[in-house]
Amino acid sequence: MITKHTYGNPFNTEAVVEAVPNAEDAPAYGSVSLEKGFAFSYTMAAQDIVYGLGEAIRGINKRGHLYVSNCSDTPDHLEDMASMYGAHNFLIIDGEETFGLFFDYPTAITFDIGYTLQDKLTVSCEEADLDLYVIDGENAYDIVKQFRKIIGRSYIPPKFAFGFGQSRWGYTTADDFKNVVKGYRENHIPMDMLYMDIDYMESYKDFTVNEKNFPDFKAFVDEMKAQDIHLVPIIDAGVKIEEGYDVYEEGVENNYFCKREDGSDFAAAVWPGRTHFPDVLNKEAREWFGGKYETLISQGIDGFWNDMNEPAIFYSDEGLAKYKEFLQTYQNDKDDQIPFFAVQYLPKTLSNSPEDYKRFYHNVDGKMVRHDKVHNLFGYNMTRAAGEAFEKISPDKRILMFSRSSYIGMHRYGGIWTGDNKSWWSHLLLNLKMMPTLNMCGFLYTGADLGGFGANTTRDLLLRWLALGIFTPLMRNHSAIRTRDQECYRFENVEDFRHVIGIRYRLIPYLYSEYMKAALNDDMYFKPLAFDYPKDEMAREIEDQLMLGNEVMIAPVYTQNASGRYVYLPEEMKFVKFMPDGSIYEETLPQGSHFVKIALNEVSMFIRKGKCVPVVDVAESVNKIDMGTLRYIGYENAEYDLYEDDGISRI
Ligand code: NOJ
Repeated sequence: MITKHTYGNPFNTEAVVEAVPNAEDAPAYGSVSLEKGFAFSYTMAAQDIVYGLGEAIRGINKRGHLYVSNCSDTPDHLEDMASMYGAHNFLIIDGEETFGLFFDYPTAITFDIGYTLQDKLTVSCEEADLDLYVIDGENAYDIVKQFRKIIGRSYIPPKFAFGFGQSRWGYTTADDFKNVVKGYRENHIPMDMLYMDIDYMESYKDFTVNEKNFPDFKAFVDEMKAQDIHLVPIIDAGVKIEEGYDVYEEGVENNYFCKREDGSDFAAAVWPGRTHFPDVLNKEAREWFGGKYETLISQGIDGFWNDMNEPAIFYSDEGLAKYKEFLQTYQNDKDDQIPFFAVQYLPKTLSNSPEDYKRFYHNVDGKMVRHDKVHNLFGYNMTRAAGEAFEKISPDKRILMFSRSSYIGMHRYGGIWTGDNKSWWSHLLLNLKMMPTLNMCGFLYTGADLGGFGANTTRDLLLRWLALGIFTPLMRNHSAIRTRDQECYRFENVEDFRHVIGIRYRLIPYLYSEYMKAALNDDMYFKPLAFDYPKDEMAREIEDQLMLGNEVMIAPVYTQNASGRYVYLPEEMKFVKFMPDGSIYEETLPQGSHFVKIALNEVSMFIRKGKCVPVVDVAESVNKIDMGTLRYIGYENAEYDLYEDDGISRI
């Protein structure tokens, strides 16, 4: 049962799409104070687990720290990073009392989950204008399913999006891209997608392609398609200010950009230099911006990733002016009076500054709304702009799309990737922990930059990370410019990469089937163990294993120099290893803890008691999967309900 409690005059975020009746009474759990803005407080029992917050860092159990939903361009996913790119204000308290909470509030909101006082949960925000949804259910899993019903069905990508994708910031010319495809195809490492980061554009202008580097873009797209490669270009939030650039000129002419208080178009620098932000909270501007994706779709493009849409700001005109003024003060300083820390810190205050988010406005149904009041809705609405447009531009075929910034509700239009992680073992584990909590909020098509985005990867880290990525719906190797080359064929013993990625393709019928069942039934693809084994005390504490679909448990290796790992089995299971020689090793292990050996070039998973999983032969692209080779592994006489469709028609 769900009750809605409205405080003040909430902004309609459109996160919730099913009608939920307004409650007469105060929430059945905790207490609400409106003395200073809004604050919800609840006293947690010692053993309560707190699930939720989607993309937030730290554990599956969020207890013991402070989080702020405030969409941020944050390349440092450190343990104490309060805010990430997304704002996912959904929590479940699971223990003595079990209930869910969704705070539908469009800007910064703080979750103190036993940080100030160990047993106190306090959720607070500046303005008491929000809808609080309180969800009662049989258990945490049931609460998720109820929540998912009211926020609408999750995005469904085309089936090719379940293939492996390669990306790197820095690929610039058609030859750069062709060489990557050559590297994969010649080494017979399966691949379906090649991502185009900002350098494919002309001067980083959205919806343009550099003509010098791609003299005939459509022919290039077709040439790639002929090799079963889908090119997936990036689209950034900021539109370059440049006379003669049609997107800029149309936006200015029609008042489609975010404005300053005085009515002028707000300018902020991002990759292209000074840009304007499309006002995606304005229905007409949203339609206009979404329609622009057609420029690329008409050339054969069928996938996009939306970036920098927190929106990220390097600096604004106003911020830069203040900065210059500050430096000017010390221009002729001879007396060693320079305040070192202020000077060192000042450049950092230039980007993504809260001051800048107060400097521009959205036109929402004719009313000017200051950006900082609705900050967490920008990335959501940029992706929504595209998603709504795709339904018109491509009414029959699904289009691949994921975003960096998001709010609950965006899950109906696209997936997300978890942004700029690092080539660190700890981030492999973080990738695993983020997956089920994102699923709770409806984000099913998700994944991290495999191998790590920033810093230099190592061969073993990439292999181990791929062995997790095999199971994440979005499987993409992406790395930052100036880091070590990270394409799989760059490393010694390339056959290990061929094998590991090949296993993804052997499992695609299963992974796709489980994804579709989760999407169509408002269910989860990845679950914490406790969701399937709620009575198992050990399972409640496991943070490095996940349930996948209804048949599988995964327990990837996430430490360097390890020959295997400890794993906890809540019941008897089949330990499965895909061996480098193509064989499949299966061993039945009893309930309990085990050390399992998993070599760098092996892929492992567990099949639940009495279940089976379909596998096919390896294929080099999703298109080439031969369903005639399908057979089942796991428990004999088990039955599996395989979901199949054409993988492209809209459902
Ligand atoms: C930031 C994104 O998070 C990253 O993935 C991308 O490579 C860079 N922007 C450059 O576009």
